[in-house]
Amino acid sequence: QGISAEPQTLKTIHELSMLSQTTVPDFPKSSRSKELIKQGLLDNDFLKNLELGQVKEIVESMYSVEYDAGALIIKEGDIGSMLYIMEDGRVEVSKEGKLLSHMLPGKVFGELAVLYNCKRTATITAVTACKVWAIDRQCFQTIMMRTGLLRQAQYTSFLKSVPTFQPLVEEKLIKIADVLEETYYSPGTYIIRQGACGDTFYIISKGSVKVTMRQTPSDDEKFIRMLKEGEFFGEKALQGEDIRTANIIAADGTGVTCLVIDRESFEQHMGDLKEMREIHGSMDDSRRKLNESFNNMKLND
Ligand code: CMP
Repeated sequence: QGISAEPQTLKTIHELSMLSQTTVPDFPKSSRSKELIKQGLLDNDFLKNLELGQVKEIVESMYSVEYDAGALIIKEGDIGSMLYIMEDGRVEVSKEGKLLSHMLPGKVFGELAVLYNCKRTATITAVTACKVWAIDRQCFQTIMMRTGLLRQAQYTSFLKSVPTFQPLVEEKLIKIADVLEETYYSPGTYIIRQGACGDTFYIISKGSVKVTMRQTPSDDEKFIRMLKEGEFFGEKALQGEDIRTANIIAADGTGVTCLVIDRESFEQHMGDLKEMREIHGSMDDSRRKLNESFNNMKLND
């Protein structure tokens, strides 16, 4: 079970950029402590899906707290807002008076109440004098949200720059931005294979791809055209046709980065595919260009 940033849908890019400017504190610490915190976060089942940028910010904003031996750090049933990582010492975990386990340096504790807004699920007591790193929920959530918001703003403005998506209102663009997955394909990767089933739609955010086709399975692949940044492919999948009509290959050189949406997330976030009508016009243009290239190829054969 992991967590991921849940960006909220906000109305304007202005609001997004205001929120993204919120600052979080930076408490100096040794590189050994930074590494211990980073590893602790990445080893925790509930936090291991954090992005490295988020981990870095959390590491910077954690501050040091010391407890004497015997101190009660977390009490089961309390409302809690702090998440901790052990730097030195040993704590014990107990539930309903029963000892469950001990925790040593590098362990995260108190994450459940912070992540899930629930009451403390166990009691944590210092067995020896302890030095821990701490972060409060508000700071933690600012970091989580900010990363999500920055990405949302970046994707939304990218979508706005793609002619296909320009007719859509900003709120829709934000919704699409929320369901995009950024994926890198190394040079020569077949992102789509002709004849295969598929339900994903791709927008090129960096680099380019090569479109090729075979007329029959025994024919050689024929080059159709290149698609570059801002162009898209696989759109038929969003319209319910899942047999791929061409190969799409990551171009030589640096490869390609695409923003990927699958049909399910698209439908979930866009209501239904009627929304696509708004952008069909420009999609058809693009498709027409592709067909024209294909026909030219056939004429030239
Ligand atoms: P939280 O519920 O916020 O506060 C108590 C913490 O104890 C909890 O987060 C976990 O970090 C930790 N904890 C809860 N249950 C267990 C368990 N069974 N074993 C070890 N640690 C636990």
